[in-house]
Amino acid sequence: MSAPTDTQRMEKIVSLCKRRGFIFQSTEIYGGLNGLWDYGPLGVELKRNLKNYWWRVMVHERDDVFGMDGAILTHPAVLKASGHVEGFSDPMVDCPTCKAHLRTDQIVEKKGIKQCPNCGGKDLTEARQFNLMFETHVGAAADESSIAYLRPETAQSIFVQFKNILEVSRKKLPFGIAQIGKAFRNEINPRNFTFRSREFEQMELEYFCPAQGGMKWLDYWLEERLRFYENIGISRTKLHAREVPDEERAFYSKGTYDIEYDFPFGRQELEGVAYRTDYDLLQHQKASGKSLEYFDEETKQRFIPHVVEPSAGVDRTVLALICDAYAEDQAPDEKGKMETRVVLRFHPRMAPIKCGIFPLLKKNERLVAKAKEIVDLLRPQMTVFYDQSGAIGRRYRRQDEIGTPFGITIDFETLGEKEPALQETVTLRDRDSMKQDRVAIKDLPDILSSRIARSCGGAL
Ligand code: GAP
Repeated sequence: MSAPTDTQRMEKIVSLCKRRGFIFQSTEIYGGLNGLWDYGPLGVELKRNLKNYWWRVMVHERDDVFGMDGAILTHPAVLKASGHVEGFSDPMVDCPTCKAHLRTDQIVEKKGIKQCPNCGGKDLTEARQFNLMFETHVGAAADESSIAYLRPETAQSIFVQFKNILEVSRKKLPFGIAQIGKAFRNEINPRNFTFRSREFEQMELEYFCPAQGGMKWLDYWLEERLRFYENIGISRTKLHAREVPDEERAFYSKGTYDIEYDFPFGRQELEGVAYRTDYDLLQHQKASGKSLEYFDEETKQRFIPHVVEPSAGVDRTVLALICDAYAEDQAPDEKGKMETRVVLRFHPRMAPIKCGIFPLLKKNERLVAKAKEIVDLLRPQMTVFYDQSGAIGRRYRRQDEIGTPFGITIDFETLGEKEPALQETVTLRDRDSMKQDRVAIKDLPDILSSRIARSCGGAL
């Protein structure tokens, strides 16, 4: 089922991402390269919060998962064994009229005639397979013998290091190896902002188990992964687990789910959770001639483990976080007149900046000094942003627009000039309710930490 599209909303999101420094077109001043993106100061924080949280729940909080960080340049033998050299391709056609290169699933059909979606041209070429891998050369000789590939997925280095990690970790099955890193695909038609890029990051887990456990672990990981998305603040109603039918599944997979999200451009895949059987390890064992078997001490049997793989895209999840958080509501301006407020309702744990700190007047040295003291108090625990310019309402709006969940204002009460009982207190504003509480400065670290932790179900 497809979700309704909302082009206008997507345009606003793309424009906000550029305006506020989340995501920029890569090499924009040279005209840009299609399908490549750079993350700005806020985007990189958001991305890092996501990756850190994934690593925390998938590696640090478990006894049965270990991390690794593999090389990006990949030996061709690895990708021949995995099937990528032969088969990692998309069917493609060209439109001679407008010179577009199209994936066959993008062609439109009107009255039984295939047409170019850009210019309506009907003179399309026959479909041919286009390999999506980026090829390069290692060393001085640029010939067949020096070919290497930029990895199209992080998974293969995990399979290739399976035996080493099994040995050093001294673990029994089931156990997993996790990796976060860059992957590269020469997509025929990158589109929908960062959704389909040519360079992107993946967060992948290969969870090895005996054959009998495969289907059970598939269901287990699907549930874990759905919970993960809810824990980072993605609306459950916009998440969908689609069971991939036999005809769409890789031939070696006994079961696959796509976790999909209702983006403004439609329902699309965020993550695949696949039971890949023993295919990958078997292929690498055959091609390398090295045993990748596991020896079960209890049953005294040797076998190739099966694997369940939850494979998520960092960039797609960042995009889903931004799309889910984007909201417009009504809030009073300086004079109390209602105006439209743009707000990113990020889950506090994902928010690039946790707290804005504002002295009421920038020309008052005592207010400024106290505000800077609070910056120093909170900075060891969280990202903060100090802002002294413009009316206080404007400063709140600027933080709302980038999703900062808390705002602290230092005023004359803080200095004890109005009511001695309020000395050393500040107002603490909540982004979503816009409610303000008066709290003691000394309590700020605990209050903020517990509000962030409470809403994310764990530590900061
Ligand atoms: N190891 C399995 C694998 O790579 P995949 O479905 O091709 O499976 C996994 O990719 C995830 O990587 C996708 O669900 C998506 O989140 C992300 N991904 C794949 N291609 C992408 C692209 N061109 N741009 C951004 N993310 C992509």
